[in-house]
Amino acid sequence: MSATETVNDDFFKLHQEFSAPIYQPYPVVFAKAEGCWFWDKKGKQYLDVFACYSTLNQGHRHPKIIEVIKKQLDKITLTSRAYLNEEVPIFLQEICRISEMEQAIPMNSGAEAMETAIKVARKWGYQMKGVRRGKAEIIVMENNFHGRTVTTVSCSTVDKFKEGFEPLTPGFVVVPFGDIEAVKRAINNNTVAVLLEPIQAVNGINVPPEGYLHQLRRVTQEQGVLLIMDEIQTGLGRTGRLFAWQWEEAKPDILCLGKALGGGIYPLSAVLSSREIFSALNPGDHGSTLAGNPLAAAVGLAALKVIEEESLAEKAEITGKYLLEELNKLNLSPISPIKKIKGKGLLIGVELTVEAEPYIKKLLDLGIVSLVVEKNIIRFTPPLIINEKEVAYIVERMSKLFG
Ligand SMILES: Cc1ncc(COP(=O)(O)O)c(C=O)c1O
Repeated sequence: MSATETVNDDFFKLHQEFSAPIYQPYPVVFAKAEGCWFWDKKGKQYLDVFACYSTLNQGHRHPKIIEVIKKQLDKITLTSRAYLNEEVPIFLQEICRISEMEQAIPMNSGAEAMETAIKVARKWGYQMKGVRRGKAEIIVMENNFHGRTVTTVSCSTVDKFKEGFEPLTPGFVVVPFGDIEAVKRAINNNTVAVLLEPIQAVNGINVPPEGYLHQLRRVTQEQGVLLIMDEIQTGLGRTGRLFAWQWEEAKPDILCLGKALGGGIYPLSAVLSSREIFSALNPGDHGSTLAGNPLAAAVGLAALKVIEEESLAEKAEITGKYLLEELNKLNLSPISPIKKIKGKGLLIGVELTVEAEPYIKKLLDLGIVSLVVEKNIIRFTPPLIINEKEVAYIVERMSKLFG
């Protein structure tokens, strides 16, 4: 059966008629999901190695998270943060414990978490560092991805994310990713923070040179500049550590989490830092109507519990190494379209010498859901619960295409 044969025309037509044209989905309508698997409307089964951009670390509909959300729906779902509930403080305590931080701001989406981190860094710069109001600078990396709001696209170096959305937010200075000397050169008296993803996972799968994160930690500390890590995609086990900064003992001053924090079930993000840094904020400085609601907090708590109880970071390290090894056995000869296999843990990209799009469609026909990264990379970021048989399923199908 080909990908196009799985089209459910009615739904595709509805999408085209009523969805603003910001997404161009593949013509497959998923009707059910569980663990690492999708089923489409016709009952065809697909292994999900995309996991909604690394959101489904715990797999689809993890039974323990489903049980918690069902119970919570019968109890309390929304209070606003103008009043207290039991769930949010307990969730914040737990996420602080897990991430070795002191305080947290819950938000909804990843981009909101990034906006929050940028606000915190600027306010800290003015209040604590004495930067002149309006002059704060944040150093960001080439090929970064921090979201799609006006400010997060303002720090992007990808033109298509910005064009037509001007005027952009000022105050960002771009340096090449992985170049510590460039960061040193860019720091001046107005620099309040260096912001980066420890491994870039949207505009390429880019792992920085070994030692870079550690050096960055040292330089920012020495220069009195905050280190902000966007671990929205790399965090919560994805790279084989609970947080990617742990690979190099480069604990940031501000940590941003999202995606898997909501267990693939509910939108939830968070910004974590120290009491000292957050003391730059006062009541009323920041907030969001729905952020920090008890339903999200209950889901977040359950999502974190699954990651810890099922040792998903350790699993990602072991399975990731194995998958990387197996993919490296594919044909890498000069005539093969595979150029390089790269990544860490279960954040893997198969880089081709040609466009990846036709291969995504072929994989779909073979029962694998993936996605293109940067035109020529096939993304392998499956749920971290993926088992040996499922890895063999990937390898067998990849061998059919590239063996
Ligand atoms: C590293 C990183 N930061 C921020 C975001 C934005 O998150 P959201 O799409 O939830 O706004 C993403 C989303 O892909 C991401 O990968």
